[in-house]
Amino acid sequence: MRVLGFETSCDETGVALYDSEKGLLANVIYSQVKTHAQYGGVVPEIASRDHIRKLAPLLQEALAQAGLTLKEIDAIAYTAGPGLIGALLTGSAFAKSLGFSLQIPTIAVHHMEAHLLAPLLESPKPDFPFLALLVSGGHTLLVHVTGLGNYQVIGESVDDAVGEAFDKTAKLLGLGYPGGATLEKLASQGNPKCFHFPRPMLKDNSLNFSFSGLKTHSAQIIAQHTPADYADIARAFQDAVVDILTQKCKKALQRAGLTRLVIGGGVAANQSLRASLSSLGEVFFPRFEFCTDNAAMIAFTGALKLAQQQKDSDRTIQAYPRWELT
Ligand code: KG4
Ligand code: ZN
Repeated sequence: MRVLGFETSCDETGVALYDSEKGLLANVIYSQVKTHAQYGGVVPEIASRDHIRKLAPLLQEALAQAGLTLKEIDAIAYTAGPGLIGALLTGSAFAKSLGFSLQIPTIAVHHMEAHLLAPLLESPKPDFPFLALLVSGGHTLLVHVTGLGNYQVIGESVDDAVGEAFDKTAKLLGLGYPGGATLEKLASQGNPKCFHFPRPMLKDNSLNFSFSGLKTHSAQIIAQHTPADYADIARAFQDAVVDILTQKCKKALQRAGLTRLVIGGGVAANQSLRASLSSLGEVFFPRFEFCTDNAAMIAFTGALKLAQQQKDSDRTIQAYPRWELT
């Protein structure tokens, strides 16, 4: 089965083609990051307009990359949520219209389920069951995964998502948007001994996280120091985040009686986090381009769902800005 995938939940327009026998045939992406950077964050209306401009050309590029025509596609998967409503609607409307004109099934995909399954695109891939740590701009989730569609959220952020905390601290450090990767670069030049950031909720009994206090702490420290100290501050912030995520994953693995840990979402691109989590045992990370938003994970998740006959029951355009994983 060949499944076309569309990703338009935020500021990346992605189109990919996944073949259930041959694997990934095409994966193209257009990032709007530069457009939004001048505003210091994603402007939803601009994001939607850009998706509309880019979807058709990217589809042609993906088909050319795979050496296929539209007639050779068996189904179409698209991100139906969670995300920005206008952005989601562009991808959903495009996918559903194409499905209607080709008379093939469409499959609504949950963006975070796709992040969770992205490590399964790699080889060796993790077997079920496993613990998934999902760390993106909008979510921080610990999920006990026993099979496709069998997800139990056992921990989550009670306030800011971890990517959001990176972005907000990066902004305070004058690093621009999105700041996660730039903050990581700056932190690599920092001295780990100069500052110490708090570890909120680390000692409590739950598997939940809290990151909004770290942003407040960053704001206070930055206000008291000069740019000469920014690398040390970035380092202390990152060390705190990495420590919190590592300790909570360790606790979650023990509690759930699991040995395999799978990491997904944009923050999983962070090298310090990868190094620290690797110490916890059998750990699976997707490659860099499958950590941040992409359509390969959408086409792949669509193919897995199609194999289980999970497809849209009608041609209604679906978009769910808020959508629980479970
Ligand atoms: O999964 P993703 O591409 O989009 C969402 O679904 O939100 O994640 C984007 C987030 C942003 O907050 C970005 O700053 C963060 O991932 N990020 C990083 C790194 N690369 C991206 N955070 C820390 N270190 C990185 N290297
Ligand atoms: Zn994402």
